[in-house]
Amino acid sequence: MNSFVYRNGILYAEGVPLPQIAADHGTPCYVYSRTALLSRFAAFRQALTGRDALICYAVKANSNLAVLNQFARVGAGFDIVSGGELARVLAAGGDPAKIVFSGVGKTAEEMRQALAAGVFCFNIESAAELERLNGLAGECDKKAPIAIRVNPDVDPKTHPYISTGLRSNKFGVAYSEALDLYRRARELPHVDIAGIACHIGSQLLDPAPAAEAAGKILALADQLAAAGIPLRHLDFGGGIGIRYRDETPPAVADYLAPILAQLAGRKEKILFEPGRALVGNAGILLTRIEYLKHGEEKNFAIVDAAMNDLMRPALYEAWHDILPVQQRAATEVEYEVVGPVCESGDFLGHGRRLAVETGDLLAVLSAGAYGMVMSSNYNTRPRAAEIIVDGAQAFLVRRRESAEQLFALETVID
Ligand code: LLP
Repeated sequence: MNSFVYRNGILYAEGVPLPQIAADHGTPCYVYSRTALLSRFAAFRQALTGRDALICYAVKANSNLAVLNQFARVGAGFDIVSGGELARVLAAGGDPAKIVFSGVGKTAEEMRQALAAGVFCFNIESAAELERLNGLAGECDKKAPIAIRVNPDVDPKTHPYISTGLRSNKFGVAYSEALDLYRRARELPHVDIAGIACHIGSQLLDPAPAAEAAGKILALADQLAAAGIPLRHLDFGGGIGIRYRDETPPAVADYLAPILAQLAGRKEKILFEPGRALVGNAGILLTRIEYLKHGEEKNFAIVDAAMNDLMRPALYEAWHDILPVQQRAATEVEYEVVGPVCESGDFLGHGRRLAVETGDLLAVLSAGAYGMVMSSNYNTRPRAAEIIVDGAQAFLVRRRESAEQLFALETVID
């Protein structure tokens, strides 16, 4: 199902023409489809029907309060990596008892906040972190629920910047050291061993590495049980990829099938932490062409969105399809679609064939995940507005920043 389709030559978000959104809210702006968000979540839920499962949406992918609230309302859990994300989930009405707290560098303050909120589980990534959590939980007379994030040393075959399950990564505890760390955890008075976790990387298109990682995690869970350390849950992380260009990601059910097939006869609750797969294709970045510049070697479409709004092309050379909002009969010309930021890396797409005029709108697709959340104020550019479309209605869910807000925390000195 695609929520962004042409009608009479105009691109719509569900029932709303994108030019209408640009007129009402300005550009650049992110536009998300509520139907797309919820249908992706429903696909996960469907694939896990009849199982004791918790889908913990990875907040880092898109942390707008309204997006979190949509997921909270359909019973999602949340995977967080900071005190800030914890505060967002709570403000959005998320259930703390369904939160897993991941991340290699949790501060003492963040741990205290999560203990006070009563999160479902801390995913522990090192021996030092385990000791710190035990100490802090002791101070408030609590037992912290923990899972150890184990590094299964599986190659996820994705971009090196977003692969996390190899031995060489900073994430998780080495497979060979996990058993000893669980033994240590068992001796600590203020931790409660709840489960085991893994996450091998992001934008994974092949189910095989995730299934292999799951197999290793299950083998470890069995070893732990044999050592008198039973687990209540198994967290297989996130990472399911989406289509950006011509990728053919498996359907959620097909991706999960080889993992679920290994669970026959097991009693543990299962968790997944999908981010991109829930929100990536539910959002676009809407931008307007400020200038068309016909150079000697290349043509440039200079738009009002930039690398500070969508960093993925500059950072990973990621491809995002770019569509004209208004289809024109004219011949297509090849453009470098670039922003106004003073960096040669400031591009949204290279060599895109477009039939466009100055002032036209462009939709940068698949921008719902790792778009707005990775934006910055570089060049003192106020961050974009965010809009959620639901049928024929468009709701502004984050106002555009003002320049004054960008320096409101700053002071000059004598
Ligand atoms: N769980 C953990 C522990 C993670 O580190 C991540 C993502 C997820 C779940 C969610 O992964 P997903 O289902 O979204 O693949 N900025 C990069 C992606 C970084 C992903 C980091 N961790 C990008 O724009 O492609």
